[in-house]
Amino acid sequence: MEELKQKISQEGKVLSESVLKVDSFLNHQIDPVLMQKIGEEFATRFTKAGITKVLTLESSGIAPAVMTALQLGVTTVIARKRKSLTLIDDLYSAEVHSFTKQETSEISISKDYITSKDNVLIIDDFLANGQAALGLMDIVKQSGAKVAGIGIVIEKGFQPGGNQLRERGIQVESLAIIESLNGGKVKFKEEVSI
Ligand code: G4P
Ligand code: NA
Ligand code: NA
Repeated sequence: MEELKQKISQEGKVLSESVLKVDSFLNHQIDPVLMQKIGEEFATRFTKAGITKVLTLESSGIAPAVMTALQLGVTTVIARKRKSLTLIDDLYSAEVHSFTKQETSEISISKDYITSKDNVLIIDDFLANGQAALGLMDIVKQSGAKVAGIGIVIEKGFQPGGNQLRERGIQVESLAIIESLNGGKVKFKEEVSI
């Protein structure tokens, strides 16, 4: 997605050879106009998939997930990372280990919000090692629903998550794929047009 790549080039800050800071439009401040276009792009890419729910993980996945759900005419379910005071229903839970943060967290959703009839689109802001996506897929599997695909705003193509998911036959749509952050510069993977 050209407009997203331009925004990353203009405002992204390369913190190291593996970390890109995009606080100005995705992780701390949100650009709602760009976010709406991101939602439209995901909706277009999954328009024929028969999506009934969009599932994301708090917190930075929420904005792109809501915009996508709005376009698709469905609702968004937010997997929670912390045990909330009100999240006391029957839950589907999964463990997510972050190699970046060196911590494991338990993510959960209420059984009320995804059922075996659902066809779920998973949306997240970043894809690195794929652990969050795998945890969300685990939750969908527990519910008996189907995973229709995964939509990612920024994929770090030099980390293994994206290709591992694609090798499992999952449709992974990343709006910007970063090939490298070496030398303090963002280099995007060339898009193969179809
Ligand atoms: P994984 O799920 O693909 O295995 O990713 P990882 O454990 O590496 O990511 C942990 C957290 O760090 C996630 O956010 C993820 O979105 C974020 N992240 C990973 N790499 C980058 C990066 O290069 N830049 C930025 N800005 N974020 C990155 P989180 O802890 O779930 O936080 P939240 O932002 O959703 O609240
Ligand atoms: Na995230
Ligand atoms: Na994040």
